[in-house]
Amino acid sequence: MNLTLKIWRQKNSKDKGKMETYPVKDISPDMSFLEMIDVLNNQLIESGQDPVAFDHDCREGICGMCSMFINGQAHGPGRGITTCQLHMRSFKDGDTIYIEPWRSAAFPVIKDLVVDRSSFDRVIQAGGYVSVNTSGNTQDANAIPIPKEDADKAFDAATCIGCGACVAACKNSSAMLFVSAKVSQLALLPQGKVEAKQRALNMVKQMDEEGFGNCSNTGACEVECPKGISLENIARMNREYLKASIS
Ligand code: SF4
Ligand code: FES
Repeated sequence: MNLTLKIWRQKNSKDKGKMETYPVKDISPDMSFLEMIDVLNNQLIESGQDPVAFDHDCREGICGMCSMFINGQAHGPGRGITTCQLHMRSFKDGDTIYIEPWRSAAFPVIKDLVVDRSSFDRVIQAGGYVSVNTSGNTQDANAIPIPKEDADKAFDAATCIGCGACVAACKNSSAMLFVSAKVSQLALLPQGKVEAKQRALNMVKQMDEEGFGNCSNTGACEVECPKGISLENIARMNREYLKASIS
C-alpha cells in the first residue's frame, strides 16, 4: 500500500506545532500501525531528518503507551484495541491518514505524538493501592473468600491500562473512567475496603487538582476505551465518594 501520512510535529511543549505531510510506500497490510511508523522513521533518519517521536513499549495491548489519535479516533478505527494492535489492513491503498497526539490540558505534549501522562501517576499515588504488611507473615490472598461476581467485576476494572483514551475522547477531558476503574478494582474486594473512604476522597481530589474536567455522561470514554471499561464504574465511584463524604 502507498499512503499519505499527515502527522502532528511539535519540537517541545513550548513549540506551537503543525501538521506535516509524509508519503510512505510499499506498506504491508500485515504490518501493525506502529511498524508502519517505524518504516517512516527509517526513511526520515536515512534522509537526515528528525524521526517522529511516539510512545510504545509492549506492542501487545498491555502497557497503554501507544496512545494517539488516528483519523480523529483514539487508537484509530476498530473497537477494543490499542494503536499497537491496529493493523494496516484496516486502511486502503492511497488513503490519507491523520495522526495526532492526545489533546488535553492535563496531558501536555512533550514532543510530536508523545504526551506527559504523569497526572495519572499522581492520581494513583493519591490512593490507588492497598497498604499491606510485607514482613513475610501476610495472609495468603487466596484464603479470603470473594464472591465470583465481585471478583469478575474487580478483574474487569483492573484491565484498565492507563492509556488515557477516555480523557482524550471526552469533550470535557474527564478522567472519570480511568479513576473509577482504579477505585472500583479495589472497592469491590475485601482487601480494598479498609482504605476505601480515604481512597475515594483523595483520588477524586487529585483528579480535580490535575485539571481534568467533569463527567457529563456522554459515554465517549466507554466507546473509545480499548479495554471496554464500563460506565458502571463511574456510578460506583460516585457512590463510594458520596459514602465517604457523608460518613
Ligand atoms: S479506562 Fe480505558 S481508555 Fe481510560 S485509561 Fe483505562 S484503558 Fe485507557
Ligand atoms: S505499546 Fe503497549 S499497549 Fe501499545
